Amino acid sequence: MRRKLVVGNWKMHGSRAANEPLLAAIAQARPFGCDVAVCAPFPYLSEVALAWAGGDLRWGAQDVSVHEQGAYTGEVSAAMLAEFGCRYAIVGHSERRQYHHESDQLVADKAKAALARGVTPIVCVGESLAQREAGETDAVVKRQLSAVIHTLAHCAGEMVVAYEPVWAIGTGRTATPEQAQAVHALLRAQLQAATPHASRMKLLYGGSVKADNARTLFAQPDIDGGLIGGASLKADDFIAICRAAG
Ligand code: 13P
Repeated sequence: MRRKLVVGNWKMHGSRAANEPLLAAIAQARPFGCDVAVCAPFPYLSEVALAWAGGDLRWGAQDVSVHEQGAYTGEVSAAMLAEFGCRYAIVGHSERRQYHHESDQLVADKAKAALARGVTPIVCVGESLAQREAGETDAVVKRQLSAVIHTLAHCAGEMVVAYEPVWAIGTGRTATPEQAQAVHALLRAQLQAATPHASRMKLLYGGSVKADNARTLFAQPDIDGGLIGGASLKADDFIAICRAAG
C-alpha cells in the first residue's frame, strides 16, 4: 500500500501575512495519515521552512534551474533549494511548458538537476483539450514521461509523477476518476517497463481537485494523492483534501 501524498502548488499567490495563518492552520490540523507538502514561491521558502521546521510537513519549489550555478540571472539552483530544506521541486508544470516554452528535454534535465541535489522532482505531464479531443492523450503523456525516464535512467524510480490534464487546471472541470485512473494506469505501466520501483512510485492527480471530489479520485488504484492549486490557498479546503487522502 503506497502512502498518499498531497502537495499544494501555490503558484504565484501568497504574501508573508497571508502565508502565516495558512501554514499554522495546516500544522495545527495534523496528523493527516498521508504525506503533506506545499510548493511555495521562492521568496517564501524560508518562511515555510521556519514555520514547519522539525515536523513531518514538507515543502518545495515550483521550478528549478538545470544549471548548478553561474551567470543565469533569475534562475534558482537545486543546491539553493536543498539549503532551504526543500524536499520537492515541481518541474514541467503545464504553465511553464506553455508560457515559458519548456521542452520535454528541458523538463527532464530539470528533474535530473533536482535529484542530483536530493530534491525529489514532481514531474508534471498532461494533455490539452485539443489533444484529448483528437485522441492524443496517451501519446502525449507517454512522450512527456519518456523524456524524463530516459534522462533519469536508473534513478527514474526516484521521481514523483503528476498527471495534470491542462483542461482541468483552474477550470473547475475535473477529470472523472475513471479518466484519471486510465491515464495513471498507462503511466504506471510505462514506469514498470523502465524501473523495478514503479509499484512504489507516487503518481499524483492534479486539476480542480476540491474537498468534495478528492476522496473518489484518491480511491482509484493508481492515484496516490494530488497536486492541488486553488484549493491549497484556503486552509479549510486544503486540510479537507489532506484528510480525504489520509
Ligand atoms: P487547480 O487545482 O487550481 O486546478 O490547479 C491544479 C494545478 O495546476 C496544480 O499544479
